[in-house]
Amino acid sequence: MSSTGWDNFWKDQRQSFYAVMRMATAYCVTQLEKVYHLKPTDEILDYGCGPGFVADCLANQKIQITGADINEFFIEECRKNHPASLFLLITTDITANKKILDEQLKEQKFDYILLLSVAQYFNSANDLEQLIGLLSTYMKESGRLIIADVLDENTSSIKDAITLFLHCIKKGRVGAFVGFMSYLMFSNYRTISKQNKLLQVPEQAIRDMAMRNALQCEKVKGLTLQKSRSNYILSHSSVKSSV
Ligand SMILES: C[S@@+](CC[C@H](N)C(=O)[O-])C[C@H]1O[C@@H](n2cnc3c(N)ncnc32)[C@H](O)[C@@H]1O
Repeated sequence: MSSTGWDNFWKDQRQSFYAVMRMATAYCVTQLEKVYHLKPTDEILDYGCGPGFVADCLANQKIQITGADINEFFIEECRKNHPASLFLLITTDITANKKILDEQLKEQKFDYILLLSVAQYFNSANDLEQLIGLLSTYMKESGRLIIADVLDENTSSIKDAITLFLHCIKKGRVGAFVGFMSYLMFSNYRTISKQNKLLQVPEQAIRDMAMRNALQCEKVKGLTLQKSRSNYILSHSSVKSSV
């Protein structure tokens, strides 16, 4: 990845748009709980876990997860808030990450691996494909890799902003939306997004990546707030569709 790209932006992030991110993540976790009836014995890896919003939501159900992120501050927050769980500081280098995961996970396999609102910050579809290959080795035979909030040619930032706004109104959090929008307009997010377009990955490309990694791919609706983004469930071919 480039030294001035999204990876550096995320490595430096602190608490910039927590409020909206937390709401969007909580929405997705609620949808996942409805579909998969998550339980405390489920083993879940949240790759690109950010400050731990998935972990926070699932802790209410006594579900502990494992997380990984490139941002040291986020990982420290996660460790502080969930001392009994494992949170790994990873890099943007796939080979280095394989080593970190192999050493730290000690052959653990997961029922669910979540890649939520992360793919758009990758440098290329090839980076995503390599990650899918790596993560598939940590999936149980019945496991699922959930790639959610993927941008593609149908993604509209205006439509997404409207859905977010409506959700914020519903939750009585209009201030959070205003803070989020002003952050997008006036922070280094804007500067970086001019230099590095968010990665769009068409549906067919995800299907091809899944096929090349011997996984089946199902596109699912409604997992995330932003309706013009796409969500995919990748699994080994023995797994039955669940949505
Ligand atoms: C929008 S936040 C989403 C956080 C979390 N998944 C959630 O939904 O609450 C994007 C996250 O992706 C992480 N990220 C960005 N590039 C990454 C990469 N190459 N590998 C792993 N994580 C990455 C960032 O550090 C950040 O925590």
